[in-house]
Amino acid sequence: MRSFAILLAFSFLATSGVLGQKVVLTNDDGWAVAQIRAEYAALKSAGFDVILSAPAVDKSGTGSSTATPTVLTSACEFNSCPAGSPATASNATDTRINYVNAFPVDAVRFGIQTLAPKFFGTKPDFVISGSNIGNNLGSGITGSGTVGAASEAAKEGIPSIAFSGASGSQVSYTTLSQTTASSTVPANIYTSLIIKFVNALLNNTGAILPAGISLNVNFASTSSCTSASSYKFVLTRLTSSNSATDVTTCGTNHLPAESTVIKTGCIATVSVFNATTKADVGAATQQVVLNKLSSILSCS
Ligand SMILES: *[C@@H]1O[C@H](CO)[C@@H](O)[C@H](O)[C@H]1NC(C)=O
Ligand SMILES: *[C@@H]1O[C@H](CO)[C@@H](O)[C@H](O)[C@H]1NC(C)=O
Ligand SMILES: *[C@@H]1O[C@H](CO)[C@@H](O)[C@H](O)[C@H]1NC(C)=O
Repeated sequence: MRSFAILLAFSFLATSGVLGQKVVLTNDDGWAVAQIRAEYAALKSAGFDVILSAPAVDKSGTGSSTATPTVLTSACEFNSCPAGSPATASNATDTRINYVNAFPVDAVRFGIQTLAPKFFGTKPDFVISGSNIGNNLGSGITGSGTVGAASEAAKEGIPSIAFSGASGSQVSYTTLSQTTASSTVPANIYTSLIIKFVNALLNNTGAILPAGISLNVNFASTSSCTSASSYKFVLTRLTSSNSATDVTTCGTNHLPAESTVIKTGCIATVSVFNATTKADVGAATQQVVLNKLSSILSCS
């Protein structure tokens, strides 16, 4: 009976495409925030092979800044490591959870270049950056460390997605035990949405995403959207354009701007951006992403 249940679980994972997929998880809010630890636990439970590599302290708003990691001169965020701790280190009991005392770009690089060879024996299959606490929309994404880390991964040839959510707060992962807290509820809803999104993306053949691009996914506030199932994913663009010709979908070849669509309800916007310029891509590249995500995309 038990082996039958295990067999069923494995065949589900195999058909949904996630079995053993190698993921580096990063952010700009820091390695010890509730949001990233909720995701780490859920991705593991869903069958992913995960490494967490994120900044030792909050590095929000640092874009694509980079530096050599340094010894901690004060404690890691929420006292998650003492002053004087090394420039990079693992959690004592789970060495797959790591901090890097530098910028988000440095943290994802460390995950891809140092931790992945060690734990996976090869490159990661993809990188998840965020979910960030707070949305990252439009031309303003250039300042986001969450987007900076996703862009770095794509530039290193690793498919990546930057996620950001309107709700939640920068609190320690130790607060996740308070399951009804106003910080825990959005952390769990956004985590479910991320797993749904990644499962849909992976449920395809061929390259996970086109080279040189990344996805900017933003979740609306959870205040009137009480579960992951209340959200709809909508294909958008970073900035509105009257002149650009986008992929044809939902009866038009002009995608709506993400900052407009996100205000319209329980929405998750999905924009395709160039990892080098952090600007919208052309219709052909949008089309590839549209095809891969068609099982979850809605028109509004
Ligand atoms: C390290 O991981 C253990 C086990 O998951 C956890 O109990 C502990 O709080 C973690 N500490 C930090 C600083 O991440
Ligand atoms: C995977 O793709 C199949 C066929 O295209 C579809 O029926 C199924 O719902 C998809 N599963 C997920 C998790 O998106
Ligand atoms: C991204 O932008 C750079 C610089 O304009 C360009 O050379 C490259 O082809 C673009 N990549 C994609 C996938 O659009």
